[in-house]
Amino acid sequence: MEAYGEPMQVTISSGNNINGTLILPLFEGEEALPEIVEGIPTTLKSQVNRVLADGDFKAKANATMTLVGTEGGKAMLVGLGTTHKADAHAYREAGATVVASCKKVHGSEMTVMFHDADLACMTSFAEGMMLRDYSYDLYKKKGDDDETITLSARINCNEGDTTALSAAIDRAASIVSGVHLSRDLGNCPPNDMYPMAFAQKAELWAEQYENVSVQVIDYEEAKRKGMGGLVAVGMGSSRKPCMVIFTLNGDQKGQHPMLVGKGITFDTGGISLKPGANMDEMKYDMGGSATVFGTMEALASSGYPHKVVAITCMAENMPAANAQRPGDVITTLSGKTIEVLNTDAEGRLVLSDGLWKAGTDYDPEYIVDFATLTGACVVALGHEATGLWSNDDDFRTRIHEAGNDVGELAWPMPLLPAFEKEMTDSKIADTRNLGAGRYGGANTAAAFLKQFVPNRGEGDDAEQITWAHMDIAGTYWGAKTNKMVGHGATGIHVRTMVRLITGE
Ligand code: BES
Ligand code: ZN
Ligand code: ZN
Repeated sequence: MEAYGEPMQVTISSGNNINGTLILPLFEGEEALPEIVEGIPTTLKSQVNRVLADGDFKAKANATMTLVGTEGGKAMLVGLGTTHKADAHAYREAGATVVASCKKVHGSEMTVMFHDADLACMTSFAEGMMLRDYSYDLYKKKGDDDETITLSARINCNEGDTTALSAAIDRAASIVSGVHLSRDLGNCPPNDMYPMAFAQKAELWAEQYENVSVQVIDYEEAKRKGMGGLVAVGMGSSRKPCMVIFTLNGDQKGQHPMLVGKGITFDTGGISLKPGANMDEMKYDMGGSATVFGTMEALASSGYPHKVVAITCMAENMPAANAQRPGDVITTLSGKTIEVLNTDAEGRLVLSDGLWKAGTDYDPEYIVDFATLTGACVVALGHEATGLWSNDDDFRTRIHEAGNDVGELAWPMPLLPAFEKEMTDSKIADTRNLGAGRYGGANTAAAFLKQFVPNRGEGDDAEQITWAHMDIAGTYWGAKTNKMVGHGATGIHVRTMVRLITGE
């Protein structure tokens, strides 16, 4: 359906022979060629040894050097940094750096020879290669086909490691397919990515899995059901809004993780129109929905056996004769009303219905929502970390740690009663979609969302469902320091969620 397909092939071998370009990950201060390397042309071997002996290559993290043998053979040296700093993250980045540095001269095949790397590090290196081997060229119709090289890599490891390593790399490839799907959805131009197009892609995707189902609530049904937030945001577009619900292993009973995504396929701001500069970037405003769709792909393709449900709230935010106005008061699925003071604060409107449905029609163990929600979050954290809020401190810590484990930072932010008060003191409605001032805009947005997370139980036993909100406005695209990405959508947090949900 898209540019994404199988991630680049990474195979395992217990031999020491070299196929294609030799990739040598090295530690800073200990730069040396592994003795066991065979099948390397003698001249290339002596060239590598010479460069290393002369100290011409310092294996600082992500440094690379390419050597082309005078009598054939090629090698790429890549730095991992010093041994004590070379953790799984350093290996992942080095793998990504190798792919990013691959030119025509390196050819299409590589053989990686590690020095004493454990299973987790070798898997991370392969994951980094697969993640970085992505480009979105679906719309490049006149490209030179000869320029696109299909890379493949072989990792040489000890005989005893081959079975475990190949299983770990297969799993990583499944997860990468979810990340790449998220990127494909995010990168897709907004003339082709609109609410029902997203829904159709989801339906098509679900056909390949027996344990997956997709339900689409279209515009008419959303109106009938009283999804006032989704309807208000989407009604001004000729491409009408919808809600898409993904269920994995739906026949299972009991509580399950629940994901919710903001899916604004284009955010003009609506009647509160955005300034023109860089408005094209608002095609990524469905990044939250892409994250949850990608996560479902990662879980389904890696064979996750338990139940997970995801809801995406899809709408296009357009200015039009039939668009909502600043000043409108809308009634959401929860029955709570919202005074819409700015139509550009639309993500929270669609999410109000998604969160409410998630907590009332299902029995979630927890709910996590993803949204490119506020420019204020980008002001606070730049492109380096996702903003993370939760009504449960332990749960917030678990997500923060899951993010750290996979190298996707999510930074704790405060969910304060004062912000909730600010968002609930409308003179004429239950809530307002705009804070009193512009300060703390990412926090007031989170506090607003909290109003739409249902309680579990009733009366004195009622307790709000465990919930976390992740503002990915700064991390879903434009993250230049993210080594896993060349440009465009990052596909962030698919891996965080797989880690959180599966514990692996
Ligand atoms: N989609 C934007 C948030 C955004 C801005 C994401 C920049 C990425 C980069 C969101 O719908 C929005 O416009 N939010 C407003 C809220 C404000 C009107 C309270 C914002 O952040 O300015
Ligand atoms: Zn907006
Ligand atoms: Zn938006």
